[in-house]
Amino acid sequence: MNKEEIINPAGDAGIRDMLAGSGYSDKAISYFIEKTYMGDLPQADQETEMTGTCGDTMKVCLKINKNIIEDIRYQVLGCPGAVASAMAAAELVKGKPLEDARAVNDNDIFNLLEEIPDKKHHCIQLAVKTLHKTLDEYQNARS
Ligand code: FES
Repeated sequence: MNKEEIINPAGDAGIRDMLAGSGYSDKAISYFIEKTYMGDLPQADQETEMTGTCGDTMKVCLKINKNIIEDIRYQVLGCPGAVASAMAAAELVKGKPLEDARAVNDNDIFNLLEEIPDKKHHCIQLAVKTLHKTLDEYQNARS
């Protein structure tokens, strides 16, 4: 049995069932399982961290070229809602101009996720606030 099987003996199907039972949509669960934009970005142009009131922490790494977000990664020390929200936010802003990314709000992320438990809505806020803080720090350093 490998490490993954020991930590998660029921596999992805078990995680899907558990999160669906907690009120996550299939789409939100897929964001959480696939973790497409999770990790580090070598030679990022901006890296910014933020800790939410719940104690969870996110970090956003941005690669920016001529005002466009060429690539983005989140690192998340947090719950499934935090991971799903971060992945949705990254998907939404990759390839977009900085102004469009700055205009992304909690509702945009909620619409992409389709459904997450009510008590997890602050996880969306943390993903959006961390993104905005990252963009602000990038632009402040250049103004
Ligand atoms: Fe902290 Fe989800 S519980 S971000």
